[in-house]
Amino acid sequence: MFITPLIAAPMAGGTTTAELALATHGAGAFAFAAGGYKSAGQLATHLAPLRAAGIDFGVNLFVPRTSPPTASESAALAAYRTELSETAGRYGAEVPDLVLAEDDPRVQDYWAEKLDLLLADPVAMVSFTFGLAPVRIVAQLQKAGTQVVASVTSVAEARAAVETGVDALLVQHSSAGGHTAAFLPGAGAADTATLPELVAAVRAAVTLPLVGAGGIASAADVKAVLAAGAEAAAIGTALIRTAESGARPLHKDALADPLYTRTAMTRAFTGKPARALVNEFVRDHSESAPHAYPEVHFLTAPLRAAASAAQDPRALNLWAGSGWKSAQSGPAADVIKEFLQGL
Ligand SMILES: Cc1cc2nc3c(=O)[nH]c(=O)nc-3n(C[C@H](O)[C@H](O)[C@H](O)COP(=O)(O)O)c2cc1C
Repeated sequence: MFITPLIAAPMAGGTTTAELALATHGAGAFAFAAGGYKSAGQLATHLAPLRAAGIDFGVNLFVPRTSPPTASESAALAAYRTELSETAGRYGAEVPDLVLAEDDPRVQDYWAEKLDLLLADPVAMVSFTFGLAPVRIVAQLQKAGTQVVASVTSVAEARAAVETGVDALLVQHSSAGGHTAAFLPGAGAADTATLPELVAAVRAAVTLPLVGAGGIASAADVKAVLAAGAEAAAIGTALIRTAESGARPLHKDALADPLYTRTAMTRAFTGKPARALVNEFVRDHSESAPHAYPEVHFLTAPLRAAASAAQDPRALNLWAGSGWKSAQSGPAADVIKEFLQGL
């Protein structure tokens, strides 16, 4: 199903640009565009250069949540807002007073309109994260000629994904940078198994083609994932510092800064666990941050924008997988070629 063993993972929030996808594709990877956080119009614009190039590529979407925050989560959200106001004040930013209805496009992440776009003008592959797409939608995409991939973080999630009729699974380990794909309680938590061990466990449980992701820093890491039974490996963090990546310069620089000595899973920035370099914001707010995605994302957005404008990485979401120290700057094609040459 995958014609190359290396996949350029989707990175929403600006990191995956069309230029990055084109560069990684040109060097021999299969590239994913990042549909998360975008409206359908913004997604169409993001995809236009890829469509114009006439290449096969994937599009990744966020599956919206199925239930709103509980009363206690809402109370924790209000308390968190108060807690953040001091940090926000330091940057002259406000923490919005935010209650999101379930049908708010920000909660739905423009789900229906983006699916309409991808059904009307199909792409080679669509992957989902943060949950499972309904069986009906998987079937509609497949009928349109699109292969469908579900992201999972455990054997239980893999089994649940198989039931939806998808064509392949992205098996994401907790060492991955950015948000966890986990959608079942307890899945995706920091575990002792390595990525190859997780891939092998999923391989033993299901027959679908697998892609392994999380913490891949070298060709040797890719080989270990392939040996464990995956058809391909996906890299994210390894591409963040490249020339074509749209990550903020502060983020790119932080990945090469010896000031940062570790990563951690934190809900502090968005309300959903995500792996980031440990900076002041992660240290100060991880314990109190509520389970309320995407509310916390929108709560912290003005503060993060103001910190970025002030060239201050202390309050930025510096997403990073466990292999961050190996991330190289320079052309993305060079990064891809180095991985592929080592296989
Ligand atoms: C900055 C950043 C943004 C990400 N955005 C997405 C996304 O939009 N959708 C998704 O499925 N995964 C996203 N991920 C996860 C990657 O697709 C991939 O699973 C992960 O980067 C692999 O682990 P690694 O970063 O250690 O290579 C993101 C990761 C990073 C670092």
